[in-house]
Amino acid sequence: MNAPAPSASLPGHPFVHRRQGELHIEGVPLASLAERHGTPLFVYSKAAMLAALAAYERGFAGRKARICYAMKANSSLGVLQVFARAGCGFDIVSAGELERVIAAGGDASKVIFSGVGKTAQEMRRAMELGIGCFNVESQAELERLSQVASSLGQSAKVSIRVNPNVDPQTHPYISTGLKDNKFGVAHEDTLRVYQLAARLPGLQVVGIDCHIGSQITQTAPYLDAMDRVLDLVEAIEAAGIALQHIDFGGGLGIDYAGDTPPAADALWRELLGRIDARGHSGKLLMIEPGRSLVGNAGVCLTEVLYLKPGEHKNFCIVDAAMNDLPRPAMYQAYHQIVPLSPREGPGINYDVVGPVCESGDWLGRDRNLQVQSGDMLAVLSAGAYCMSMASNYNTRGRAAEVLVDGEQAHLIRRREGAADQMQNESLVQD
Ligand code: LLP
Repeated sequence: MNAPAPSASLPGHPFVHRRQGELHIEGVPLASLAERHGTPLFVYSKAAMLAALAAYERGFAGRKARICYAMKANSSLGVLQVFARAGCGFDIVSAGELERVIAAGGDASKVIFSGVGKTAQEMRRAMELGIGCFNVESQAELERLSQVASSLGQSAKVSIRVNPNVDPQTHPYISTGLKDNKFGVAHEDTLRVYQLAARLPGLQVVGIDCHIGSQITQTAPYLDAMDRVLDLVEAIEAAGIALQHIDFGGGLGIDYAGDTPPAADALWRELLGRIDARGHSGKLLMIEPGRSLVGNAGVCLTEVLYLKPGEHKNFCIVDAAMNDLPRPAMYQAYHQIVPLSPREGPGINYDVVGPVCESGDWLGRDRNLQVQSGDMLAVLSAGAYCMSMASNYNTRGRAAEVLVDGEQAHLIRRREGAADQMQNESLVQD
């Protein structure tokens, strides 16, 4: 064994730490969970989620603010329950997500419905359940929502998602606020669309919304976007349309590999400075953070199946794969990979890969590891956009999930079997 400090948390992961060399999450040794539930296994720290939430709450102290967890980051019921009990609202992008909010005990009136392609059926269901607001992304969608609400004899609360044309300086697949992205109403069309919204039947304009991208690690794009949104707020209100809230989206990054995003409270101190300076401090503030609430609260445990040395590359073949952890294959994303019990001695460089039949099935490249078959590894920063993006490719069952709360470990999802995967299928009866 290396000689570790008795208890040292991993950088960026305050609730993941080594005690006597063994990796723990809160008070629970991860190896005990791998043994009990098998691998691949996602493990989340409730304290880490609540600490991340508390940073936003500190930033908004004394303000009218609502934090709507962007549940696409991790929509497991046990995770949603943590945020529902903490009083959060939810940012949803489908009727399926709305059903999950209800199942987890969330409050529909604190739900905001984002996304460019809401169907009439989804709009109807959301109105039936009394959601808080629709973030509308186009004129055509606005017209559809007006028809749906009128046919129900109701009034839908709307906010228009504006595209501020700001570069969030992140991966192109997760930039959403540039004018070539499919998201939001173009800056120059915003006033016209608001005037239409104010005229159409069945709609009640309540706010403005903007979301510029994800894994943002700098403050400047946020400040630029806020300035542009406030310009629009002033133009819309000058046209006689009052706005009750500003929804500023999500996007704050986390530390995957030494990244240094601003802390949520520090970021909001700066943004509130802009809002106050322009006289909008009376407005309700809403945000839609996803990754920054759950990303570094989770790890994925995986077992080393085989080592395959090669002339040019060594492969460390593990039992988790791109269907469990799609981010490396999709975005060349970097996740740290560490052993649960480090071995002594120098490591060698491995590509850590899964069993799926694709060359894109890798979890980490050129990782220096001292491992043997049967060892357990933890893929870090796996709380966001991993389980929620997992698939059954290669007919692999989705992993089990455990939520740790102090010394307690709760199984919040059992491992999916082959029968679970086939339950909606049928053979043709001749
Ligand atoms: N609000 C809206 C309208 C969004 O589209 C998103 C994320 C969020 C809020 C939450 O953003 P966050 O705080 O999590 O950055 N699968 C990608 C990330 C896609 C993000 C999509 N939209 C990844 O794994 O990096």
